[in-house]
Amino acid sequence: MTNETAATEPTDQAAPTRRTFIATTSAVGGVVAAGGLLAGPSMLGAEEAAAAESAPSTSITLTVNGRRHDVTVDNRTSLLDLLREHLGLTGSKKGCNAGACGACTVLVDEHRVNSCLTLAIRLDGSQVTTIEGLADGDDLHPLQQAFIDQDAFQCGYCTPGQIMSGVGCIQEGRTGSPAEIRESMSGNICRCGCYVKIVRAVEQATSRK
Ligand code: FES
Ligand code: FES
Repeated sequence: MTNETAATEPTDQAAPTRRTFIATTSAVGGVVAAGGLLAGPSMLGAEEAAAAESAPSTSITLTVNGRRHDVTVDNRTSLLDLLREHLGLTGSKKGCNAGACGACTVLVDEHRVNSCLTLAIRLDGSQVTTIEGLADGDDLHPLQQAFIDQDAFQCGYCTPGQIMSGVGCIQEGRTGSPAEIRESMSGNICRCGCYVKIVRAVEQATSRK
């Protein structure tokens, strides 16, 4: 059985400046350190271990990229954490962990989902496709190739999510025009600002479908 705690991170709305972030974390760190000294590290460790031990878990079976997996997970585990931490599929990225950036986009039963917002235990019996499952051996998926042809990335952090979302858009038939592509992929943020080329890549893959 595997246990893990669902991560909670601040949303962009509450994004601090570098200065306030450092100041806040320093202050919080001091409080935590003081608390740790008062409570004693062994006491905190025992409490955390007991909490993890008592967390409910569920056994599920799901198929990821054509391969069946039988896993037992903490009920709070997201699909993204299941993929990355349990199955070693780190292509799907954790950007915001709050449903705001699309970096974690995968297909579940052919539908696009933000895997950071999807509880793994709800997917018993589902088919999941991640970026690792798109290529056919050495043959890239047409949209993967189009991203290369159109130079549709810089840092690449958003790219797996963009590609999975683009594949979903093409399957949904929502790529009739650049405007429609932009609209249907509006949940995928690219901090490098590669949107024009991403749209071109989706257009290219759509035309070669
Ligand atoms: Fe940003 Fe999931 S990591 S939407
Ligand atoms: Fe860097 Fe999109 S390529 S965030």
